[in-house]
Amino acid sequence: MKKINIAVDGPAAAGKSTIARLVASELGMVYVDTGAMYRAITLAHLAQPVLDFETLVQKINLKIVNDNGQKIYLNDEDVSERIRENDVTLNVSYVASQKAVREKLVGIQQELTAAKGVVMDGRDIGTQVIPDAELKVYMIASVTERAERRLKDNQQRGIEANFEDLVKDIERRDHLDMTREISPLVKANDAIEIDTTGMTIEAVKDKIIALAREIIDK
Ligand code: CDP
Ligand code: CDP
Repeated sequence: MKKINIAVDGPAAAGKSTIARLVASELGMVYVDTGAMYRAITLAHLAQPVLDFETLVQKINLKIVNDNGQKIYLNDEDVSERIRENDVTLNVSYVASQKAVREKLVGIQQELTAAKGVVMDGRDIGTQVIPDAELKVYMIASVTERAERRLKDNQQRGIEANFEDLVKDIERRDHLDMTREISPLVKANDAIEIDTTGMTIEAVKDKIIALAREIIDK
């Protein structure tokens, strides 16, 4: 089978990671959630806020393990659940705007995609990390639907949340991510936009699988 990379970008809670994971599993590819990496560095920053970012990224040890989904370890501690909490979510876009942080993570991400066969989701995957990805998807959905989805997520995880605060957080983060100086969130010229508002997870997944199969079978 022809090996390809798939880049999935888009704003917060558009469904990127849920669908990227399913696509990877159905196509026998590796799934990488880059947002989790920025969240893990944010957790390290919150623990040692006085450290400058260059020193921080040199000191920490990040490990990504793919085992039926992605687990992320910060200095050998499994932080996969901890990084979803509100303190991390509130600070992650600030940390992700730092040059030293982006250089470190983009380097790791490019190593992971060098051999192809990866579905990677984030904000700058199609534009910076794998600009030559065989398939690029830009996933969007209305802010209200995204906030409703995230509310359900948080309730399931036992994280305190209400709809109005989630709308605010999503709008604030999208604005920061789209207007930052380094690698802002922007749709790559050759990305295919999918508006998932009102679409089921299954329908979005099937659409991306069909696009991928066209490229793989060509
Ligand atoms: O899942 P959710 O939409 O809440 O966000 P995420 O994918 O976990 O990403 C968290 C934050 O990390 C984003 O709001 C961005 O600030 C940053 N990020 C980034 O800058 N570049 C990426 N490739 C992935 C995430
Ligand atoms: O990765 P990203 O922040 O873009 O979104 P996500 O964490 O994958 O999706 C947020 C929530 O929306 C998850 O609970 C998904 O199950 C849900 N979702 C949905 O209900 N319908 C879709 N078409 C896509 C995602």
